[in-house]
Amino acid sequence: ARLVVLVSGSGTNLQALLDAAEDPAYGAEIVAVGADRGDIAGLTRAEKAGLPTFVVRVSEYADRADWDRALADAVAAHDPDLVVSAGFMKILGPQFLGRFEGRTVNTHPALLPSFPGAHGVRDALAYGAKITGCTVHFVDAGVDTGPIIAQGAVAVEDADAADGGDALHERIKTVERTLLVDIVGRLAREGYRIEGRKVFFGS
Ligand code: GRF
Repeated sequence: ARLVVLVSGSGTNLQALLDAAEDPAYGAEIVAVGADRGDIAGLTRAEKAGLPTFVVRVSEYADRADWDRALADAVAAHDPDLVVSAGFMKILGPQFLGRFEGRTVNTHPALLPSFPGAHGVRDALAYGAKITGCTVHFVDAGVDTGPIIAQGAVAVEDADAADGGDALHERIKTVERTLLVDIVGRLAREGYRIEGRKVFFGS
């Protein structure tokens, strides 16, 4: 399966996918990496791996709809079977989803449907949750609302209150990377079907 990965930041999830995909048995190859901003470690990781990259900045388009179309075009140019939003911090719009819904996977650092949005780690901590984690799901038109593929749990420690969630996020990311690599590989190798909110492996 051909993968396009979208990033906005450090790209440790991308790196985990790059490392896994070195083994042909993984079943998926990353064909390009896209971002909504330049100058991020995620793009450097892609360049080091010798992959084509593209940047589609919101500020360079008249409005969100134009940006959404441009992003969809840039992704489509690489003809992916699956798109992975790995720490991509923009909402994918209707143009993008019109072409890639059901083929776009996102990873979120909380146990959905709890704590959606840009601050999933901080919000779980502030709420006083004792178990949080990460969710790998298909992207739909809502914010972190699409069909769930898999989840991993991480315990909140008393000490996590001290640093605003940084250490908790690092523990979540450790679980998240393993889960994302596992799930993307299975989607690619086994196939899948989405029935309403439920996702099943196999065709
Ligand atoms: C991940 O925890 C992702 O779920 C969140 O941002 C983090 C991205 O990390 N939204 P990285 O860029 O893959 O290192």
